[in-house]
Amino acid sequence: MQNDRKLILYIAMSLDGYIAKHDDDISFLSAVEQEGEDYGYSKFIETIDTVILGRKTYDKILAMGIDWPDGDRKVYVLTRTPKPDSGNIQFYFGSLTDLISTFKSKEGKNIYCDGGAETVHQLLQEDLIDELTISIVPVFLGDGIRLFKGGLQELKLQLVNVKSFEKGLVQMRYIRMRNL
Ligand SMILES: NC(=O)c1ccc[n+]([C@@H]2O[C@H](COP(=O)([O-])OP(=O)(O)OC[C@H]3O[C@@H](n4cnc5c(N)ncnc54)[C@H](OP(=O)(O)O)[C@@H]3O)[C@@H](O)[C@H]2O)c1
Repeated sequence: MQNDRKLILYIAMSLDGYIAKHDDDISFLSAVEQEGEDYGYSKFIETIDTVILGRKTYDKILAMGIDWPDGDRKVYVLTRTPKPDSGNIQFYFGSLTDLISTFKSKEGKNIYCDGGAETVHQLLQEDLIDELTISIVPVFLGDGIRLFKGGLQELKLQLVNVKSFEKGLVQMRYIRMRNL
């Protein structure tokens, strides 16, 4: 357990910056599927005990029938149409700064932001993301849901790691540099 918990964005995008097509198709990710290669995901997930994601990403996960997340991780689904909590899933509508401050005021593992883009944009607007692991999939989608929307303040980052993989995926890990 630690009390310097970090909010980490861990996400994959096409080389031209999209996380899905407009119809939520994420089949471009299959270009990098390889047996026995999870691009560090299982190791990463061991370091987190809380997940935050947008309602559209949550719906997509449900539609895909994925049993996720495993274990007893707490999941916060952002939505402006709150629903009753269900098991370890809580639906949240309120200040993101307050939510993240509440997590950080308690001991625990890191917090995983799973996306999507609207959620990332709002967290970046409030400068709440401490680390980003971005996996670039070698494909141009041409159109779709952009991971990073415009109109944000300037935020300085430090690149701490870059890895490339056999299937052409490149993974970059950045830390948000504050107080420079
Ligand atoms: N490539 C990848 O690794 C990856 C990862 C994650 C997601 N995705 C894809 O990204 C797509 C979804 O991304 P997206 O940008 O469209 O949507 P999103 O961020 O997943 O969800 C947006 C929804 O979250 C809720 N929301 C956002 N900010 C909120 C706030 N401050 N307070 C309360 N609720 C808030 C709203 O829900 P309500 O409408 O219910 O109010 C909003 O419609 C899906 O296709 C998903 O599969 C891809």
